Amino acid sequence: MKRYQLRIAALALTAFAAIGSAHAQGATPVNVSVTIRADQPGPVINPDIYGQFAEHLGAGIYEGIWVGEKSNIPNTKGYRNDVVDALKNLKVPVVRWPGGCFADEYHWRDGIGPREKRPVKVNTHWGGVPETNEFGTHEFMAFAELIGTKVYISGNVGSGSPQEMADWMEYMTSDTVSTLANERRKNGREKPWDVHFFGIGNETWGCGGNMRPEFYADLFRQFATYIKAPRGKRPKIIASGGNGDETKWVEVLTTMVERDMDGISHHYYTLPTGDWSKKGNSIAFPEEEWISTLSRTLRMDEFVTNNVKILDANDPKGKVGFYVDEWGTWYDPEPGREPGFLYQQNTIRDALVASVNFNIFHKHARRVHMSNIAQMVNVLQAMILTDGPKMALTPTYHVFQMYIPFQGATVLPTEITTPDYSLGKFAVPGVSVSAARDTAGNLQLALANLDPKREAVVKVNLQGANVTSAQGRVLTAKQMDAHNTPAAPEVVTPVKISGKKEGGVLTLRLPAKSVSVVRLQ
Ligand code: AHR
Repeated sequence: MKRYQLRIAALALTAFAAIGSAHAQGATPVNVSVTIRADQPGPVINPDIYGQFAEHLGAGIYEGIWVGEKSNIPNTKGYRNDVVDALKNLKVPVVRWPGGCFADEYHWRDGIGPREKRPVKVNTHWGGVPETNEFGTHEFMAFAELIGTKVYISGNVGSGSPQEMADWMEYMTSDTVSTLANERRKNGREKPWDVHFFGIGNETWGCGGNMRPEFYADLFRQFATYIKAPRGKRPKIIASGGNGDETKWVEVLTTMVERDMDGISHHYYTLPTGDWSKKGNSIAFPEEEWISTLSRTLRMDEFVTNNVKILDANDPKGKVGFYVDEWGTWYDPEPGREPGFLYQQNTIRDALVASVNFNIFHKHARRVHMSNIAQMVNVLQAMILTDGPKMALTPTYHVFQMYIPFQGATVLPTEITTPDYSLGKFAVPGVSVSAARDTAGNLQLALANLDPKREAVVKVNLQGANVTSAQGRVLTAKQMDAHNTPAAPEVVTPVKISGKKEGGVLTLRLPAKSVSVVRLQ
């Protein structure tokens, strides 16, 4: 026991020493050049790429969003005001609910009717805690209306039936006098809701039923047949797909399914070590885990590219989208917290992960029609962390906020010359970039400096437009594991950045470990 404690202490010291050294002052800046082809506009970035995911998991819903009307935490009809206000400022385009693995154990009827009469179940997948079903269909839909977002409902294939799924759709969307539509009215909702996206199961290769793609493809065909909605209100229907470097799900689904499939889901989580049994810490990590995290998150590009190749071959008309409906960092549970609740801290490293992934999704905007970070509040790479009545916005929240101008913008191709940032066996491009023309016609440029020690001096060459300066915001921090807490909520917060012509070339100075979004004018 004693030896174990000593080892932990030694590891912690090594980690802190590494964090300190990563902030070595006076390191020579690196020189980077970026060319933006404003004369060659590409695809439009679907705003849904900035989607969120909220599962019945840990404090993701209960406490994170829903506290109930009787709570001392300031709330409106049970939804906590601070979280709702913060989410409104994020212009969330779409929220996926109720899971995740929870979705394939969820029976929608448990979550309607008088709250005090709803059955209490056990959330067997996440911590074995009671699930009161207080937050059900009406509560989720009202929440979506409150924050002004579209909804992506995840249906139960694993332990549900096509009939159960069809009934849920009818309950939510029917404008007829059917018994189900009237039941919805009796429960307080006269008007039908719009369901914008419907997922046929989740991770059907694992918690969603342990299926093979061929078996699932047949089930998709069957279940999707019964997803009905009033004329003009059909949701986009999303098939459950693969994970990480897999391509066989896209291969099989695009071969075996000829209709009803608007998208195929894909999941990829970034683990610092790549090892599920020892993933790495969310804070107090060595520089080796800074670079390994970024290197592993950059693999998203390869995974999307490989799947898009198959989509292009099997769906040349481009009807089927690639929906990365779970992505983000996944660390070891924090000591003293229930491991099944997936609560983790969120640092400037997570901000870099978010930025790098957005730049990848923009690059593939033609096929990536949606992405949903896991998850919105208190779970994994969250936007918001709550602690009783208090909350903190995470560095990831700030990146989502800074990237708002990219929602609906038109991609402008970029070329970048950047030295690698390397350490040990890892080497990554030092700077990641994305450019677009926003819906108001402004040129937007996003840049992430992945190097934790060195400033990057970026020379911007714009083809097809004239600009003289850049104005925007940068998110950076002194320490690699800098993060916000309710007690210190502004350790990592965006500040102004600008660039101007130097020697006739627009020049931006990116601090080490930073994310910047600037408007070129
Ligand atoms: O986001 C947490 C879990 O990760 C989801 O429930 C599941 O789909 C995935 O394995």
